[in-house]
Amino acid sequence: MVQTFEEISASDFFYRNRDIAGFTNPSRAIFVAIREIVENSLDAAESQKIPPDVYVRLSYEAGATKETQIYKLRVEDNGCGIQPRFIPSAFGQILYGSKYKLKQTRGTFGLGGKMALLYGQITTHQAATVTSCTGDTNKIYTFQLMIDIQRNRPVIIDRKVQINKDNWRGTIIEFTLEGDYLRSMPKILEYFKQTAMVNPYANLTFVDPKGRLYKFTRATTDMPEPPKETLPHPYGVDVELLQRLISVTECPTMTEFLRYHFHRVGGITAQKFLEFNELPPNKNPKKLTHIEIVKLTQNLKKFKDFLPPDASCLSPLGEELLKTGIMKELNPEYLVVHQRKPSTYAGHPFIVEIGMAYGGGVPKTGNFVLYRFANKIPLLYDEASDVSYRVIGSMNWRRYKASADMPIAIVVHICSTKVPYKTVGKEFIADRAEVRREIANALREVARQLGHFLSRREHVDREKKRISIFSKYLPRIAEFSAMLAGKERIPDIDKLLKSVQKYGSEEK
Ligand SMILES: Nc1ncnc2c1ncn2[C@@H]1O[C@H](COP(=O)(O)OP(=O)(O)OP(=O)(O)O)[C@@H](O)[C@H]1O
Ligand SMILES: [Mg+2]
Repeated sequence: MVQTFEEISASDFFYRNRDIAGFTNPSRAIFVAIREIVENSLDAAESQKIPPDVYVRLSYEAGATKETQIYKLRVEDNGCGIQPRFIPSAFGQILYGSKYKLKQTRGTFGLGGKMALLYGQITTHQAATVTSCTGDTNKIYTFQLMIDIQRNRPVIIDRKVQINKDNWRGTIIEFTLEGDYLRSMPKILEYFKQTAMVNPYANLTFVDPKGRLYKFTRATTDMPEPPKETLPHPYGVDVELLQRLISVTECPTMTEFLRYHFHRVGGITAQKFLEFNELPPNKNPKKLTHIEIVKLTQNLKKFKDFLPPDASCLSPLGEELLKTGIMKELNPEYLVVHQRKPSTYAGHPFIVEIGMAYGGGVPKTGNFVLYRFANKIPLLYDEASDVSYRVIGSMNWRRYKASADMPIAIVVHICSTKVPYKTVGKEFIADRAEVRREIANALREVARQLGHFLSRREHVDREKKRISIFSKYLPRIAEFSAMLAGKERIPDIDKLLKSVQKYGSEEK
C-alpha cells in the first residue's frame, strides 16, 4: 500500500491536539478560556503601567448536551488596545503575537487567546467579536472574526469603525463557547482570587451565568516597573540563534558583533572572550565557517567572565506588593515574604519570590496550602508535578517547628523571561536544578522566620497557661493559709500575681 503524506497548519495541529493547550473537557475548557483572555488583558494594561480594570461576564445562551451549555464570554479591559491592522491575525492566526520578546510577560506562545476563540468556534460555529482602541486615534474598530483552521488564517466576517467620543482605550472580546460552568465554577473563582492575590493593583469583576457578582478590588495603585526588553545572554545561546544573528547583523567585526547582540558583553569582555576562543577581534562574523560557529557556541557557555544577566527584563512583584496581595486575599495572622536575588538557568534570568502566611484566613486543610504563580499567573492544575511542591515535600519542617496540620500557606512566585513550563497549558513548572535551588533557599529563609514566630508563640502560650494557673490557685492558697494560721485577714496576693505576670509579659 502506498503511504500518503500531508502537511497540516499550526491551527490544524492545535485543533487536533487541543488537550495539550488545556482544552481537555468542557469544564476545563471554560476555565482555560477565561484565564487566557484575562491574562491577555492584564498584560495589555501592565505593559503601559496602567492599573488593570478587567470585567468578565459569562452568560448563559442555550443548552447544548445533558451536562454542557452554550455560554457567551465577554472580557473588557483598559489595556493598551491593538492597532486595527494587527487585530485579525492576533485573534485569528495561531502562533502570532507581540510577546516573542526577551522580557517577562504572561503570554509567551502566541496561542492562548486564539485557542479560546478556536474552541468557541468549533463548539458553537459562531464568529468572535473583537473591539479595540489604542487611545492614539479617535476611532474604535470592531471586527467579527473566524479562523480558517486549515490555512491558519483569520477570516474577517465584518469590520466596523466608530468614533471614540468618550476617550475610551482598551479591548473587548466577545465569543460563544460550549462548557460546563457548574463543574468549573470552583476553579474559576479560585483563579480570580489567586489572580487578585498576585495582582493587588488590579480591579477584577466577574459576573457568572447566574448573575452573581464577584468583585476583587485593588488594594493599591502602586505597580511594579514594566520589564524592559533584553538581548540574549551568552550562556543561553545555541548554534541556531547564533546563525540567525549572524545573518541579520550589520557589525563588521566580531568584537562589535558580541557587544551589539548580547546581553552584558562590553568591549573588554568581548576581547577577552575572543582571545579565549582564539578568534581575531576584527574577523567579519559573516565569514565564520560552520565549524567556527559550533566552537563559538560551545565556548560562549564555557567562558567564566560574562556577567550574570541583569533583572531589568523582569518585573517581579516585590516584597511590599506581595505582602499587600497576600494580606488582601488571605488576611493571615502572621506573614513573612522574601525576594531572592536574580538568578539564571540556561542563560534565562529568573527571580523567586516567596510568602509564608500563618493563621487568620489561611484555610486549615491538613496540608500546607500551596499557591503557585509564574509571571503573575496562578497555576491551578497538576500541583504534585510542580517543582515547588517537590521542594516543600523534601524539607524538614520539624526544624522550623512547622507541621502540615497547622494553617500555613506558602506562596511561590517565579518570574522569568522564559518560565520553564512543562506544557503549553501553563500548568506546572519543570524541575530545573537552578530553579529548585532558588526555591529551596527562599523557603528556608521564610521558614526560619516562621519558626521564630511559632516558638515565640509557643512560649507566650506556655506563659499564659502558667499565669492562669497562678491566678486560679493563689487566691485559694491565700484563703486556706489564712484559715490555717487562724488569721482573719487574707493576705494580698495581687502583688505576687503582678510580679509573676510582669515576668511573663517581659518574656513575650
Ligand atoms: N486584550 C488585549 N489587549 C491588547 N493586545 C492583546 C489583547 N489580547 C491579545 N492581544 C495581542 O494578541 C496577541 C496574541 O494573544 P495570544 O493570547 O493568542 O498569545 P500571547 O498572549 O502572545 O501568548 P500565549 O499563548 O502565551 O497567551 C498578543 O501577543 C497581544 O499582542
Ligand atoms: Mg495570551
